[in-house]
Amino acid sequence: MFDLIVKGGILPDGRRADVGITGARIAALGDLSGAGAGRVIDATGDLVSPPFVDPHFHLDAVLSHGRPRINASGTLLEGIALWGELRDTATIDEMIGRAMDYCDWAASMGLLAIRSHVDTSPDHLRGVEAMLEVQRRVAPYLDLQLVAFPQDGLYRRPQGRENLLRALDMGLDVVGGIPHFERTMEEGAETLRDLCRIAADRGLPVDIHCDESDDPMSRHVETLARETLRHGLGGRVAGSHLTSMHSMDNYYVSKLIPLIAESGMTAISNPLINITLQGRHDTFPKRRGLTRVRELQAAGVTVGWAQDCILDPWYPLGSADMLDVAFMGMHVAQMTHPEEMARCFRMVTEDNARIMGLEGYGLREGAAASLVVLDAGHPVEALRLRPDRLWVVSRGRVVAEKPRNDTKMALPGRPGTIRRRHGPPGRGQPGPAEVGYP
Ligand code: FE2
Repeated sequence: MFDLIVKGGILPDGRRADVGITGARIAALGDLSGAGAGRVIDATGDLVSPPFVDPHFHLDAVLSHGRPRINASGTLLEGIALWGELRDTATIDEMIGRAMDYCDWAASMGLLAIRSHVDTSPDHLRGVEAMLEVQRRVAPYLDLQLVAFPQDGLYRRPQGRENLLRALDMGLDVVGGIPHFERTMEEGAETLRDLCRIAADRGLPVDIHCDESDDPMSRHVETLARETLRHGLGGRVAGSHLTSMHSMDNYYVSKLIPLIAESGMTAISNPLINITLQGRHDTFPKRRGLTRVRELQAAGVTVGWAQDCILDPWYPLGSADMLDVAFMGMHVAQMTHPEEMARCFRMVTEDNARIMGLEGYGLREGAAASLVVLDAGHPVEALRLRPDRLWVVSRGRVVAEKPRNDTKMALPGRPGTIRRRHGPPGRGQPGPAEVGYP
């Protein structure tokens, strides 16, 4: 007898399996026909995936678009200036309110783990206090990791380093940084040596806004990889953005990528944000400003797609849908081979979970009973449709559900309803196996 069975679903690897849940754990996976349960969800033919994971976000700024005014130039630097005004007027309650509203959106979309940077630059550290309270409130259903992020630079602001240490003492989980925003290349590199030492001493992970620049000479990632090796931090270090790699000389990159792979660090690309923020100083041709995703993956580096911003000084759109992120990334990185598209789905699920070091993640016996049922038949179809999340289960509890919403049609001689799904087999259309997907 299970508490909950999710019946008849298709896992991302193409297997059909029922998921039996007891308490907050997956107790069984396979053919559970005949088993009893307190509740049965009929997911026949629907994609059942582990939850979406976003390893790079800014929860302190979320849903603040237009305050104090919109970002007219659309650049990273104007966004930073606007945020610099907003963070000193926003109250703790207001920041908690915006962040909690966003976490509701996330849960409704099956996004159940988020790593958020928190600005530690202002002396008042109100954002840190607010985000720690949000972390406490959402803990029953959403894994929220908080990064101490010196937005104005670790050394560029007088109290930058001291405030970062204070924020870590208050309980933030990850050490952040922004070397390309320090005054000089040398000071940027020195912050990385400093931050990696702090992380090693405290036993914390590292996640750096690194080389978010179109400047091909912005090469802080090599220092980050070197310091990762020096302290043996391996899989605990992530380089976020890494957009300068787009513009770097190919010969230099042929040395850099093996160094990144050797270090064991991971990489995070933010395609919605970088396709809009980067290349703003270019005329034509205009650079895409995305890091070298396929090339890093080919070298064995784990790369994730992340969201970064939603309705804030840097980005005027967004909906907590990690499939939007993967869809944009797939286009900009030209990852259109079926295996690459399937990889894009894994990037917003299991690859991101690896980057965040999530324990108990995945669809297997003994793992946390967290999953999302999508109105799609397989991962590539999910990417194509960015469909409704029919059920979201977090640690054994159904936290969101949405009725199936087929479109009623009124065309003579044609079907009465459609869902835009291409299959499953038997409906007169080619199904997953016939088009080469798992
Ligand atoms: Fe960011």
